Amino acid sequence: MTTTESVLTITSPSTLRTGSTMKALVYHGPGKRAWEHKPRPTIQEPGDAIVRITTSTICGTDLHILKGDLPAVTDGRILGHEGIGLIEQVGAGVTEFHTGDKVIISCVTACLKCDCCKRGMYSHCRQGGWILGNTLDGTQAEYVRISHADGSLYRFPAGGDEEALVMLSDILPTGFECGVLNGQVKPGDTIAIVGAGPIGLAVLLTAQFYSPAAIYMIDLDDKRLAVAKKFGATILINSSDGSAARHVMEMTEGAGVDVAIEAVGIPATFAICQDIVAAGGRIANVGVHGKPVELHLEKLWDRNISLTTRLVDTVTTPMLLKVVLSGKLQPGKLVTHRFPLNDIMKAYDTFANAAKEGALKVVLTTSGRA
Ligand SMILES: NC(=O)c1ccc[n+]([C@@H]2O[C@H](COP(=O)([O-])OP(=O)(O)OC[C@H]3O[C@@H](n4cnc5c(N)ncnc54)[C@H](O)[C@@H]3O)[C@@H](O)[C@H]2O)c1
Ligand SMILES: [Zn+2]
Ligand SMILES: [Zn+2]
Repeated sequence: MTTTESVLTITSPSTLRTGSTMKALVYHGPGKRAWEHKPRPTIQEPGDAIVRITTSTICGTDLHILKGDLPAVTDGRILGHEGIGLIEQVGAGVTEFHTGDKVIISCVTACLKCDCCKRGMYSHCRQGGWILGNTLDGTQAEYVRISHADGSLYRFPAGGDEEALVMLSDILPTGFECGVLNGQVKPGDTIAIVGAGPIGLAVLLTAQFYSPAAIYMIDLDDKRLAVAKKFGATILINSSDGSAARHVMEMTEGAGVDVAIEAVGIPATFAICQDIVAAGGRIANVGVHGKPVELHLEKLWDRNISLTTRLVDTVTTPMLLKVVLSGKLQPGKLVTHRFPLNDIMKAYDTFANAAKEGALKVVLTTSGRA
């Protein structure tokens, strides 16, 4: 029997920790995923760290991957780009972290040295960017290899809450940077957020740093809209009947909104943003798109609008961490379901049927949670 065959028979979590395999959520092409054994990651570069996952979660982007919207993700890839864990091992080049440190894993890997990193655009780091759970194995596993660990991990603060702080891996910086900062939300603005998933709700929470006067929240799911109301949305619109844009235009007396933020990633919701943006307004796209959208320049060319796109850079993570620790931002409220990491297949079913299940953020924890 070969070593690989013998380790595949190991099942108990405590034995797995010392063995050379682990369990991981593996993508096998559109619509196909499995919770299966994979080799445990090892240090490959001096800047690497191996992290034992204690908390992980699922993102809307993982659902896009499973729809086949991101062809760069290939068969055999371990998914997941959000997580918290304990460092098991560091490479010789890691200076900021040590074995045993508890860390927040950023969804974006940053070398901190290349031209893109030096101008704060970590998302396009020449050595990293969004690679985790994309072109590199991700965090929906018992262990993950984090490359460029010094730039891609954040120290977990003493007394911090894992459920709240795992939202710093992706959704809080994404909502804030791609939606609020790119949309240039200002005091007194009327803004509309299309999509009340975890990302749209993160936009909603962080937009309120700037006191917009009115916040329209548009979604198909009344449960998510009800959550949005609790989180500060002032007007809720269920867009199931296709009349969302008309309602917004009526309620703004034909003016439209100063900022329209797209947080879904489909042509229909991008179209709503174009229909409701006011003269001089901004459309900030956050959603990951797998299909082309129609850009109506025949209507927009004279409207003085701007349109932005962005892959989250995670440059605001240290600031957002401070706001969460102060209690002024409470992203833990987005957690609706909790599963052991071992039940991740069930967790995906729940998250993929979010409307029926009333799911927002689905948190996965391991038995070895510290
Ligand atoms: N730009 C980035 O860096 C970045 C980072 C993370 C996630 N994202 C993307 O952000 C988007 C949102 O992520 P999420 O985790 O909140 O996803 P999600 O799937 O949980 O939420 C999407 C929401 O859109 C709603 N929706 C669907 N069709 C709609 C329609 N026609 N009209 C109105 N609402 C509709 C759904 O009901 C749901 O509430 C995804 O596209 C995700 O891939 C982008
Ligand atoms: Zn994500
Ligand atoms: Zn870089």
